[in-house]
Parts: sequence; structure tokens; C-alpha cells
Amino acid sequence: MEHNVQHQLQGLNLYLIGMMGAGKTTIAQVLARHLNYQFFDTDAIIEQLTHQSIAELFATLGEAGFRDLETRVLSELAPYTRLAIATGGGIVTRRENWSYLRHGLIIWLDVPLECLQTRLQHDTTRPLLSAADLTTRLPALLAQRRSLYAQADLQIELTGQEPPAQIASHILERIPTVLKTPAQPPNNGNGTGS
Ligand code: S3P
Repeated sequence: MEHNVQHQLQGLNLYLIGMMGAGKTTIAQVLARHLNYQFFDTDAIIEQLTHQSIAELFATLGEAGFRDLETRVLSELAPYTRLAIATGGGIVTRRENWSYLRHGLIIWLDVPLECLQTRLQHDTTRPLLSAADLTTRLPALLAQRRSLYAQADLQIELTGQEPPAQIASHILERIPTVLKTPAQPPNNGNGTGS
């Protein structure tokens, strides 16, 4: 099945979008393995390029400066093919980013708020979110972004309990339903196709 999807994708990049804690990195890694794609994570690339953590970048450059770097990284990945890319949760908030995301297939990992809150409870790496923000800021961010995430080609609704392998195979099953199929040769009605 995977080989078939791989063939149908013709190297089209996969972009995982969704909130912090949705599992984009893990799922992009699993998909990359299945499809023989290269895995990238925009946050990790930014940290490697700048030798600073995301939290430090938010502190030194502010969110706008961080978003500029994010857009630059996205633009530099777009020309390549056969990539599975985990993006930062806020990538959808800049209109310009969509022109790059549209180079590939956009997959939204739609995880319920309560599950994100549980997962992020002990996380210290996400600057937009202190522990106290989980009950105020996180729901507000999700409310602001939901309609943007919904612009994805594929919405993968999750309970938050599914193991990554199961999520990845579900995505692989759904991918053909949103790919444009090549035009069929005209059928002259005698069944020979000629
Ligand atoms: C952000 C999400 C983070 C990271 C930054 C901002 C956001 O990425 O890019 O902290 O605005 O939602 P993850 O979604 O990988 O946590």
C-alpha cells in the first residue's frame, strides 16, 4: 500500500500542521520512514541555523523576528521534493507561508484541546505558553487558528490516544483521496480503450 501511495505522491512534499503538542514531529518522522522521504522540522532547522533555542529567539527577536526566520526556512525547503516537514504551530498565521505550504500536501493533526493541555503540562520549551497559559492562552490560540488549520488538504481528527503508527497509516490511506488522479484515456465504449 505504501509503495502505491509513494508512487501516487510523485515526490510531493508533506507538511504537517496543527497546534503545539499535536504530534507533528513524531508523525512526520513516521511518514518519512514509510515513504522513504527526508524528514525536516522547521523549529529544529531554525535552532540549528541560529544556534539558539526557540525560547531564546522569542526573547531576543520577538515573535515577529522568529516568524521571519520561519518563513525563510519554509521558502528554502519548498523547491525540494520528497520531504515530510513538521512545521511550528503558528506557521499558518502568515499568509505568505501558505504559498510555500501549497507546494505540497498539507495535513492537519486535529487533536482535542484537553489532550493538548495534558501533553503540554510539563513542557518548558514553548515560549508562547507558560503553565498558567494552558487554560487561557492555548484555547485562545486554537480558536484563532482553527479556521486556518482547516485550510489543510487533509484534516486528521484524533482523540489523542492513537499510537503514531496507526495515525501514519490512516494518513497514508487518506492521501489518495485528495490527490488529483491523472486523466484517464477516453473510452470509446468497446472496452478496448482504442
Ligand atoms: C509555536 C509553536 C512551536 C514553535 C514556537 C511557536 C506556535 O512549534 O514554533 O514556539 O506559535 O504555536 P510546535 O508547534 O512544534 O510546538
